[in-house]
Amino acid sequence: MIVSFRELGFVNTKDMFQKALKGGYAIPAYNFNNMEQLQAIIIACVETSSPVILQVSKGAREYANQTILRYLAEGAVEFSKELASSKNLPEIPITLHLDHGDSFELCKSCILTGFSSVMIDGSHLPFEENIRLTKSVVEFAHDFDVSVEGELGILAGIEEHVQSNEHKYTKPEEVEEFVRATGVDSLAIAIGTSHGAYKFKIKPGENPPSLRFDILEEVEKRIPGFPIVLHGASSVLQDYVNMINKYGGSLENAVGIPEDQLRKAAKSAVCKINIDSDGRLVMTAKIREVLATKPAEFDPRKYLGQARDALIEMYKSKNINVLGSAGKA
Ligand code: G3H
Ligand code: 13P
Ligand code: ZN
Repeated sequence: MIVSFRELGFVNTKDMFQKALKGGYAIPAYNFNNMEQLQAIIIACVETSSPVILQVSKGAREYANQTILRYLAEGAVEFSKELASSKNLPEIPITLHLDHGDSFELCKSCILTGFSSVMIDGSHLPFEENIRLTKSVVEFAHDFDVSVEGELGILAGIEEHVQSNEHKYTKPEEVEEFVRATGVDSLAIAIGTSHGAYKFKIKPGENPPSLRFDILEEVEKRIPGFPIVLHGASSVLQDYVNMINKYGGSLENAVGIPEDQLRKAAKSAVCKINIDSDGRLVMTAKIREVLATKPAEFDPRKYLGQARDALIEMYKSKNINVLGSAGKA
């Protein structure tokens, strides 16, 4: 049975991105794999009146089961409305998005089961093949009014297995043809961000290198007013890295993108910023802290509950201080 995203209460990214472009802010795209992460994202976004993109990766579908995730997300929409009404706050627009879709079949299956947006990640393919694959997804998705994100350039990290450890920055001279030939609704570009908790090889105390704003500017000149996406945009919050290390973890030289650089990017044509690792760090840090300081605790609600509270604060802070999406619902 085909399920439309509208029946589930989701929206595609069209309006969201237009408003974000005009308003000089970015929509948060937060990954979730379980109920506590999802609750935290919804509570933080309702309480800051921020639109939000809920991201489901292929790995999340394998971990949590795609059917369970879909119903969790559907439940989250209802929950967001109840919460907004109980606090006299506006309802928030919510997109359900497939993160890093790697095949036409996976995108199709998400489109037919209620996702309102999909990413087809052909960035590791030769240019013409990337265009062919992305175009095929766009043609299918647009019949259902589902938005499509494509990608040009390769981020180090999760995408490294396909090429190398090095960034392959987006070539600005390729973006016009890619956007025109594929019909995508947004474009992820590589300007120095990367996935995971080790974004730069620098010594403690050294500043990370700046993102390549020159490439972003060149891209903006070539496709003015077109929605740009930044992946790998966690800041790898040092308070939580330190908490993990204090309570038995071992994250050496974990480093991310400084928040002021993301704030600058959010004011440009970048209108979707992907954050996953910061949520992982916060959750792990809090669970470690509770288990280490209360060794008799064995009720998962106690440590997951504290992790959820910390996540809510972190997501609120991102919306208010980094993305500028607070108050834009
Ligand atoms: O971009 C990658 C996201 O952080 C998702 O990661 O595939 O391990 O769920 P994952
Ligand atoms: P981070 O690993 O920096 O959180 O990036 C997440 C991401 O890009 C999801 O697509
Ligand atoms: Zn990503």
